Amino acid sequence: MGTEVDKQVVEAPAKLYRVGPVVLLGAPGAGKGTQAKRIVEVHWVPQISTGDLLRDNVGRGTELGRQAKAIMEGGGLVSDELVCGMVAQRVLTEDCHRGFILDGFPRTVAQAEWLDGFLTGAEFAAHPCTSLPPVVIEIAVSYNHLFQRLTGRRSCPTCQRIYNIHFQPPREFGRCDHDGAELVTRKDDTEDVIAQRLKAYERQTLPLVEYYKRQGRLRSVDGEKSLEQVTEETLKAIGHGHSL
Ligand code: AP5
Repeated sequence: MGTEVDKQVVEAPAKLYRVGPVVLLGAPGAGKGTQAKRIVEVHWVPQISTGDLLRDNVGRGTELGRQAKAIMEGGGLVSDELVCGMVAQRVLTEDCHRGFILDGFPRTVAQAEWLDGFLTGAEFAAHPCTSLPPVVIEIAVSYNHLFQRLTGRRSCPTCQRIYNIHFQPPREFGRCDHDGAELVTRKDDTEDVIAQRLKAYERQTLPLVEYYKRQGRLRSVDGEKSLEQVTEETLKAIGHGHSL
């Protein structure tokens, strides 16, 4: 364990470059959240998970959460309008100035078109990442692996760390390695809802692979490799950042 001073020395160089926008694309259970957290540890830019933001709104009982709750419980997609508004607000906050990782956004062609317009539009013009086009990384995993990953997933309600009873178990059964909290299963990780989420992915999100391929922006990593190998490929795809 490093001291506070060691940590500052390690963190300082990270603040001298911009990462820009990073988009993680992939089916439910592909490993977007897991990889996003690993990128954060290397590049010190925030993970923006639209799923986490929506779950937070549902938990706090906000108007947005009230509108999203039933849709999420059924495995469908929340409206583009609600999600884009939420992302715009989050991306413009100061901690996103060196870059940000979009985890689970965009998820429809309409959201991708909105993002292209937003990143080149007036609202984003003063953002330090305005000249940096997004790096789009698809984490590719075949359907037969996804089901086991989702039914085996457990997460920590306190620090949001992600585990898997088959592939990434905690040291002590049912407890977070980091803070000892009791791990929970996500409400939408049931067989019926997983089937609906995969259908929504196929119908509404898969076309984005073509969308970004046509723009020459898609980089694909093999999400069936080990966590460490996927991280290595993902970090390679992001590159070394751009000087400030
Ligand atoms: P969201 O929370 O984004 O869920 P999702 O896209 O279904 O993705 P997941 O979080 O389930 O999977 P993941 O790819 O992050 O995988 P993870 O890293 O956890 O969205 C939830 C809902 O919110 C949606 O259904 C929708 O209703 C709504 N929503 C969200 N965004 C929206 C948007 N933009 N528009 C409209 N609606 C939106 O990994 C999964 C498991 O696999 C873990 O247990 C992990 O340990 C394990 N694992 C990961 N990598 C590996 C590996 N390499 N090898 C072995 N196991 C691995």
